[in-house]
Amino acid sequence: MIRTVKGTHDILPDKTGLWQKLETALHSFMRKYGYSEIRTPMFEKTELFKRGVGEETDIVSKEMYSWVDQSGDNLTLKPELTAPVVRAFIQNNLGGQASISRVYYKDACFRRERPQKGRTRQFHQFGAELFGSPHPEADVEIICLVYNFYKELGLKDILLKINSIGSEECRNNFRKELRNYLKPLLPKLTETSQARFEKNPLRILDTKVEHEQELLKTSPKINDFLTAEDQAHFESVTSMLTKLDIAFEIDPLMVRGLDYYTRTTFEITSTALGAQDALCGGGRYDKLVESLGGKPTPAIGFGAGIERLILAIENTEAGKIDDSIQVYITALSEKARTQAQVMANDVRKNDFTVTIDLLRRSLKSNLREANRLGAKIAIIIGDDELVNHSVQVKDLTTGQQKEITVNKLIEYLSNLDL
Ligand code: HAM
Repeated sequence: MIRTVKGTHDILPDKTGLWQKLETALHSFMRKYGYSEIRTPMFEKTELFKRGVGEETDIVSKEMYSWVDQSGDNLTLKPELTAPVVRAFIQNNLGGQASISRVYYKDACFRRERPQKGRTRQFHQFGAELFGSPHPEADVEIICLVYNFYKELGLKDILLKINSIGSEECRNNFRKELRNYLKPLLPKLTETSQARFEKNPLRILDTKVEHEQELLKTSPKINDFLTAEDQAHFESVTSMLTKLDIAFEIDPLMVRGLDYYTRTTFEITSTALGAQDALCGGGRYDKLVESLGGKPTPAIGFGAGIERLILAIENTEAGKIDDSIQVYITALSEKARTQAQVMANDVRKNDFTVTIDLLRRSLKSNLREANRLGAKIAIIIGDDELVNHSVQVKDLTTGQQKEITVNKLIEYLSNLDL
């Protein structure tokens, strides 16, 4: 038997109702904030992620699904959406059409990570990217957007963690100090961190190795290197969040796993999740558009895991889905079967959900099936009803049954509370 590839999952019919509910909520929520959907291809040139996300990141150095195609192009299944959206922004000159661009997305991502609860090799993200504003109001808009979306869905126990990793100037100074601190410790570091020491020492802060995390506890902290402008920006963001009643925690140790961030970074975690508790992550990336060949454009955005949102919501009131049908139709004779098909079409045209018997079962087992499907009403058609141009309508909650003429059926159903 051929099974799914490790770290990938089918989303089965009993779960797709919740996925659809969240997707519908996402589209209408994004409209409220004036964001338009953008869709980019499933794969891109590998170079986009190397230059965009950063060669030293775990994502690019270890986790990408990459291959060389027949024409020799190096291609990669997208591990995240920011680099592709920035590529699309530049390629299609979206910045030339409006001074502010607000886009959102919902898509599959691929990372070859070790699978565990809340971490898969194919997963889905929704997210938003806001191009054009360097001001703290833009940071607040993005943070509010995702925070309020979770709140509107009814998620409780979420925590916003926020930090500033400063501008380039700040990070250059910090990098120097971090190297000075780490130099004598080099022999104690893993090979990966030793390689990162020269190329990108900030990435060492992202280590998952316990003894390295221990060594880093007393390392210089990026917040101590913020310039006056960085600090003013961050204070403005946090004071607006406070005014907006959005509770947050400043986490000076929060290091995001992607290289493109400048200034504000944030994550929202949920206590309903296990070790992989980040519902979403994001931040400002004021240099990325330029470094991928576009005009200098400040930007900020977030990406949010949909599987993790499902895990956090599925056992709550907000995660309940009613996918029962309203009407179940069954025919008791050969002739009545055609009439059942005609009737199912008519009833559906009037916006009722309808399922019809396809197994020519007995009335008793059909009624059992109707109950299993959660139907409120069973319509039963036999030879007598054909002659009378009528149907039997059985209320499956009360058990009461009534004969209704065919041309009165829709009116009758419309007056019921289905
Ligand atoms: P990220 O933190 O790598 O950021 O991913 C964002 C979210 O995707 C995570 O918080 C998590 O919910 C989900 N996620 C990541 N990896 C997995 C996985 N293997 N399985 C399940 N869920 C996962 C980004 O991707 C950035 N592009 C976010 C961003 C947008 N920054 C600015 N704009």
